[in-house]
Amino acid sequence: MTHAHDAAALADTAARLATIAGEHVLELRAAGVSVAASKTSAIDIVTEADRASERLIVETLRTECPDDAIFGEEGTSVDGTSGITWVIDPIDGTANYLYNLPVYAVSIAATVADTHGMADGRRAIAGAVFSPSTGELFTAYEGGGSRLNGDPISISGRRDLATSLVATGFGYTVERKLEQLEMLSRVLPRVRDIRRIGSAAYDLCLLAAGRLDAYFERGLQPWDYAAGALIAEEAGAELLGSSDAVRPGEELLFAAAPELVAELRAVTLGQAG
Ligand code: IPD
Repeated sequence: MTHAHDAAALADTAARLATIAGEHVLELRAAGVSVAASKTSAIDIVTEADRASERLIVETLRTECPDDAIFGEEGTSVDGTSGITWVIDPIDGTANYLYNLPVYAVSIAATVADTHGMADGRRAIAGAVFSPSTGELFTAYEGGGSRLNGDPISISGRRDLATSLVATGFGYTVERKLEQLEMLSRVLPRVRDIRRIGSAAYDLCLLAAGRLDAYFERGLQPWDYAAGALIAEEAGAELLGSSDAVRPGEELLFAAAPELVAELRAVTLGQAG
């Protein structure tokens, strides 16, 4: 059975919940934060605020959209029948949050199953990323463009890799960091500069708003990119995976203007002349 989904309404729900959860996270930050547990390695941490934010979002979704599935970074896995799966990152940029660096965001996407979507087999049709410390709310729905606090945004006009500002991120295991270091060593000499901002969701939104020219990362999880990737695409970016045969996702995600993204991939993978 196929379902018709109101993507604009789903984006409104994502925006409302990301804002409520983000404001809660900001209040908790003011009260002080400590590590609650570690995950893939000792430096991959979760705070009580990550858990509280996910709880708040999940409880509201279960009440408002009881037929939808939900999938969250901090362990939520709820089945549904509507065809919509909500993908949640309750705090993307947890290390920044722990250190009281103001770059972290709540990311919420409404996704549908699609083998031509991302590598995880889903495609976001609506999403929101809220940065509570700056009050920036990025939203998009499929076909509707991207917005920052209600105003339309689009990617930068830069089409030259050598003068592009490129963001990336690093994972939490030694093996992953070494792979990322190798890619970085190829890219850094070929671009204006690199930014490691610390929140993949926010990186993708900055790209969407033209405040970064390109972004790539190896090892992202669906909750890191689900909403941000849609917001970047709706603002004019193209997303690529490790090759034309591989969808963008955990293995690799490149995002930039269509004229720039293939060159960024070639340079990152050592395939450029
Ligand atoms: C991390 C951030 C970071 C990225 C990592 C992610 P988390 O998410 O998005 O920028 O480089 O790959 O794991 O752990 O803060 O939710």
